[in-house]
Parts: sequence; structure tokens; C-alpha cells
Amino acid sequence: MPLSSAQNITGALQLNLQSYLLLSSQVKQAHCNVVGPKFLSVPPFLDQVFAELQTAIDDTAERIRQLGEFPSGDVRLVALTDGADALPDGKLEDDLAVEVVIARIAEVVKGVRTRLGPLEDEDAVSADMIHSQLHSLEKSDWMLESVLA
Ligand SMILES: [Fe+2]
Repeated sequence: MPLSSAQNITGALQLNLQSYLLLSSQVKQAHCNVVGPKFLSVPPFLDQVFAELQTAIDDTAERIRQLGEFPSGDVRLVALTDGADALPDGKLEDDLAVEVVIARIAEVVKGVRTRLGPLEDEDAVSADMIHSQLHSLEKSDWMLESVLA
């Protein structure tokens, strides 16, 4: 594979990695600050989402290494480059926590989908990994939506 192509692929993977890292920190933040009548159900759901994101983070970083680059997961870099809104400070009502996380997942899915297009032809293995990550994110979204119903 030509170098420029490999660099485009790892560049896209690096942006995915940053999105997953920030989302995972915000999901954990929400998990830790939930209050309200759904306290027994919402935090465990959020921790399931967090666990799925850890897999996505690890797989993405490893894929970057497989392609000859080095992943950057420093949270200071992630916070500078992602552009996502901060979570509300302090306690989070259960439904609001879920709504905020759903909105953040939607933003991440949008970015990952945008970057996926060019990868489909250039690197099927990375694209397959991203397909399964999108599946996981959309499953998380569906589970969280069901909490609000
Ligand atoms: Fe916890």
C-alpha cells in the first residue's frame, strides 16, 4: 500500500481513536454522577457502553500500530482536537445523563461514518473493524433509547 494512503488511513483511525477516548471519558463521567429514580439501571448501562468503548479504543490503537504508525491517546490532545461540548458539571438527572450520552454517541457515529467512506476501498480490514465499532455504538444508542421509553 502506498505511504500516502497508509497515512490517510492512520489519520482517520487516529481521529476515531480520539473520538472514542473522549466519548468514553464522558460516559464514565455520566456514570459517576447519575441521580434519580433510574439510579439502579442507568449507571450499569453506561458502564456497558464504557466497556465497549475500551475495546474500540484498544483495537483502533493496535490497528494504527499494525499500519506502522503510533497512536496518540493523550487526553490533553484529545480534548484540544475533538471539539465536542463538555458534559454538564456535577449531578446528572438519570434521563438527562442518558440523553447527553445519546447525543454524544450520535456525534461520534457521524464523524466515524464520514471517515469510513474513503477507507472502504483502501483498507478493508480497517473498514471491517470500524463496521463492528459502528454496530457496537448503534447498539449502545438503542439500549440507551430504551431506557427513556
Ligand atoms: Fe461506578
